[in-house]
Amino acid sequence: MSNEKKEEFDLRKFVPEEEQRKTFAKVFDKRTIHALHKLASRGYFDIVVHVISTGKEAHVFLARDSAGNSRAVKIYKTDTSDFNKMYEYLHGDRRFGKVKRNKRDIVFAWAKKEFSNLLLINKVGVSCPMPIAFFENVLVMEFIGINEIASPALKEKPLEDIEKVYKTEIDFLARLLFKAELVHADFSEYNILNRNNELVLIDVGQAVLTTHPETEAFFERDLNNVAKYFSKKGLKKTAEEVRADVKALKEKI
Ligand SMILES: Nc1ncnc2c1ncn2[C@@H]1O[C@H](COP(=O)(O)OP(=O)(O)OP(=O)(O)O)[C@@H](O)[C@H]1O
Ligand SMILES: [Mg+2]
Repeated sequence: MSNEKKEEFDLRKFVPEEEQRKTFAKVFDKRTIHALHKLASRGYFDIVVHVISTGKEAHVFLARDSAGNSRAVKIYKTDTSDFNKMYEYLHGDRRFGKVKRNKRDIVFAWAKKEFSNLLLINKVGVSCPMPIAFFENVLVMEFIGINEIASPALKEKPLEDIEKVYKTEIDFLARLLFKAELVHADFSEYNILNRNNELVLIDVGQAVLTTHPETEAFFERDLNNVAKYFSKKGLKKTAEEVRADVKALKEKI
């Protein structure tokens, strides 16, 4: 069997739905499909069910393993991402400071960075998807949703108890900063999912250790996002007030 044929055959096996398979073949290069195969053959998932989100930097799919467990599979694009920006987040982080400045190495390091950050964030008691595996530009993680329906972002499905949301977000920021020594750097209502009124933090690929030279600017941006969101919801806050509330938790978490 030629390589082309073999690939087609394999793709059919783990992307059974025809429309999904067409999207797959169009969007991903051979190497990405190979990476997916590798993870599937190791048992991290069995089939890809459908796409959850297609974004600038990544596609996220719902997958299922042989036991029927739902998984989220995030595939980072190796072509259109903003590699220079990604490089800055990697370069200043001592864990990834040695990454070479070429597209492939940057994207692979990014997937590894999101995996490492998810592990670290889970450890400090912030609710986020449990990372399961990664290979090259593909990350497999816990699926956040109910009965294969992905949970909406807080932006789309706000909680009624705004004080409770604020408390949770401050607790997340404090645990990240003081216990994990991480700054999320894209903290907003778009990257927090609402799973049955429980908040789950996602999209942590860009999060950096606090020793990164841009930490203060990233943190300031996160604080501004939080202040803006809650002010809009009627809980008036300035970024400095949010910062003070986070600091006040330092000894309490
Ligand atoms: N573990 C997960 N479980 C369920 N849904 C998820 C999970 N991870 C991501 N998603 C969904 O995929 C979307 C995009 O994921 P994420 O925010 O991690 O990627 P991104 O880097 O922001 O991609 P882009 O900004 O390029 O769209 C999320 O808004 C959410 O709807
Ligand atoms: Mg996002």
